[in-house]
Amino acid sequence: MGFHAAITGWGKYLPQRVLTNKELERMVDTTEEWIMTRTGIRERRIVGDDETASTMAVEAGKKALEVAGLSPSSLDLIIVATNSPDRITPASSFLVQHAIGAKKAAAFDVGAGCSGFIHALAIAYQFISSGIYSNILVVGSEAVTRIINWEDRGTCVLFGDGAGAVVVQANEHATDMLSFVLGSDGSGGDLLYIPHPCGKPSSAPQDGRYYVFMEGREVFKFAVTVMPKASRQAVEAAGLQISDIDLFIPHQANDRIIQAAARSLGIPSEKIFVNVDRYGNLSAASPVVALCEAVEEGRIKEGDLVVLVAFGAGLSWAAVVLRWQPRA
Ligand code: COA
Repeated sequence: MGFHAAITGWGKYLPQRVLTNKELERMVDTTEEWIMTRTGIRERRIVGDDETASTMAVEAGKKALEVAGLSPSSLDLIIVATNSPDRITPASSFLVQHAIGAKKAAAFDVGAGCSGFIHALAIAYQFISSGIYSNILVVGSEAVTRIINWEDRGTCVLFGDGAGAVVVQANEHATDMLSFVLGSDGSGGDLLYIPHPCGKPSSAPQDGRYYVFMEGREVFKFAVTVMPKASRQAVEAAGLQISDIDLFIPHQANDRIIQAAARSLGIPSEKIFVNVDRYGNLSAASPVVALCEAVEEGRIKEGDLVVLVAFGAGLSWAAVVLRWQPRA
């Protein structure tokens, strides 16, 4: 059986700089209307010069610790999910560990595309239910606009920066993570990727700049199939029906993908959380920023059943069913 695990704290950080569709009109061959109707995105946030994935993770993490009423020195582990780390090594989680003064915490990063946060949450759950650790900070943080090609209209309108964090703690009474589904299909690795200086020299970009590359149409097709499938599998694994779920929090990549997944699952719009209009695709930070906002906006009440579901580079996918009971 092992120990129970509960989310007891949450927090988010979004950079101040807002980039609107109108501004993008002046940067690439696009229109405000095209971006809005094809993606549902109105604006996104862009990191400041003094900000990175780790500095935003620190801000979100501090807020999550405050809500949990936990001091950084009590943390056993920090996991950061990111696709845009400050450095190749050390992992961003070590920078977070030092900046918040989590002196006894272990640290590592998780790379699973935009599904990374849910993978990190599953790892935290394992460490707690096995009794190894009691207090874990799980973060999704992205400064992905730093590696966007601002001349590629197929990607530059989609992404934004930000961070979200949760504290997961051992709990005597109740587990609020009821089931996880994690999946991979590396055969789709070329559909969405970020090249890297450690790759084969022959794969290095000619101009020396390493940008996000995406076959948007193919990723779209994958997303509209995998999000409903992973949601159904997770709900079934929890012994529940789709109609039992109070709120679905899908990966915020494109509102058309979210609405197609909702239709396929037969979920009414009031049970779907959407913030892609304000932030665009926050990659690994997307589900956790959305979870924080859903709680802050009163969309999740004590005892509610919530599904977080994501897809992304890998290709990857992940879903978790939560029973929201932070004060159990
Ligand atoms: N502004 C104007 N036109 C654009 C554009 C932009 N920002 N981006 C693409 N277009 C054009 C294309 O060049 C294409 O023109 P063509 O027909 O002359 O070749 C046309 O719009 C249609 O392209 P298509 O790719 O079919 O558009 P779409 O409706 O599929 O929308 C995406 C494109 C990228 C928004 C969409 O495919 C998508 O959201 N894909 C999934 C992306 C995703 O979720 N990524 C993250 C995974 S974690």
